[in-house]
Amino acid sequence: MAQNSFASKIGFILAAAGSAIGLGAIWKFPYVTGTSGGGAFLLMFLAFTLLLGLPLLIGEFIVGRSTQKTALLAFKKLGHRRWTLVGYLGVIACFLLLSFYSVIGGWVLIYVGLGLSGTLNGRSPDEFGAVFGDVVSSPGIAVFGQFLFLLITLLIVLKGVEAGIERMSKILMPLLFVSFIVLVIRSLTLDGAMEGVRFFLQPDFSALTGESVLFALGQAFFSLSLGVAAMLTYASYIQTKGTLNRSANMIVLLNIAVSLLAGLAIFPAVFASGLDPAEGPALLFVVLPAVFNQVPLGGFFMVLFFLLFTFASITSSIAMLEVVVAGVTDKLNEKKQTISKRNVTLLSAAIVFAVGIPSALSFGVMSEMQFLNGRTFFDSMDYIVSYVLMPVGALLTSIFVGYIVDQRILKEEIQTSDIGVKLYPIWHFLIRYVIPVTVAVVMVSTWVTL
Ligand code: TRP
Repeated sequence: MAQNSFASKIGFILAAAGSAIGLGAIWKFPYVTGTSGGGAFLLMFLAFTLLLGLPLLIGEFIVGRSTQKTALLAFKKLGHRRWTLVGYLGVIACFLLLSFYSVIGGWVLIYVGLGLSGTLNGRSPDEFGAVFGDVVSSPGIAVFGQFLFLLITLLIVLKGVEAGIERMSKILMPLLFVSFIVLVIRSLTLDGAMEGVRFFLQPDFSALTGESVLFALGQAFFSLSLGVAAMLTYASYIQTKGTLNRSANMIVLLNIAVSLLAGLAIFPAVFASGLDPAEGPALLFVVLPAVFNQVPLGGFFMVLFFLLFTFASITSSIAMLEVVVAGVTDKLNEKKQTISKRNVTLLSAAIVFAVGIPSALSFGVMSEMQFLNGRTFFDSMDYIVSYVLMPVGALLTSIFVGYIVDQRILKEEIQTSDIGVKLYPIWHFLIRYVIPVTVAVVMVSTWVTL
């Protein structure tokens, strides 16, 4: 959307919701819930989303909307040049994020192909595990999938058709909901499903570790695209005042709904088929084909589901590339360098691809190579972005909005907005105290115990 402005409220909501809902809610949420103990993790994720995510989303919206400037220019426009650091961190985070996000996006694309070719029909859960293993461990397939995913993202941004893509989500998002509901119904009616429901919904606090609290926090920020100046950038394209709060509520609500649907589609089936909820990144790819196999016209629904899933992931990857391109272009313009936006876009995508290759290989030829604390390259990237850069970005953003920005700007933005005078003190309290203190405590305590 970099070249246009949002004339309508719905255009903005579609774009921002499209960028938020993607692999985070559908793939990552169930997988991290599974490895972090289930119900207690869900509860923390919900608490962090509502008490930290929602107010921060409004905060990022205010910075973007009031300045009409993207990540690297907004802070200066508000008179705080040094805080541009937050913008830089955000651009770097989006860049790194896209490099490994595209690996998973590639898997989703390949599953569309597998579905179409009928490879997944009539197999047992064990065989799904083997197919998944073949896909992710083959360097050729994994890198090809990643390449294709980035190519689609690049072409959409190059052709400037993001607005059209976002409009399509008016139809495709509801369809994604429908296919999830089919999945949830089938999953819940499998023999032994209730154990999965209990795992997902019944909190067992003894299963929580310090690290899972950090993961819940990271997941809340990740799935709402917070702390990386992305929501700020999107909001800079809104021209009219007055709808920030309602848009934010809507995005948070949709995000929670999709996360819950994903969990309810996956966990009952995990237990019904005797699989392990702590399977890790493979979880969705091994479990969902098993569910589709037990649905009438399952082959068709599976292809439909993975296509819609691709769409949801692409509307997120577009946003990441947009933030990077907007950041680099703004910086170059400031220095009076003239490289066309087209070339910046091409070059950014090419570098993202190169940096992402080791992530694509992390499930195969590079699976034994260790980087951060025994993690694979992919996991190290994910850790740096999701559990370091995003929380730090969120912390700094909340301090900026809560203490640094001229509070008259906040008031003005909010008075004309539907957040209402009544909710303002609550929001302000969350931004000033709850967010910074919680993020700092969670981060420092996990560093100490690492
Ligand atoms: N929220 C996105 C998802 O769940 C991921 C994401 C995180 C993102 N930060 C972002 C997307 C910045 C676009 C821009 O898939």
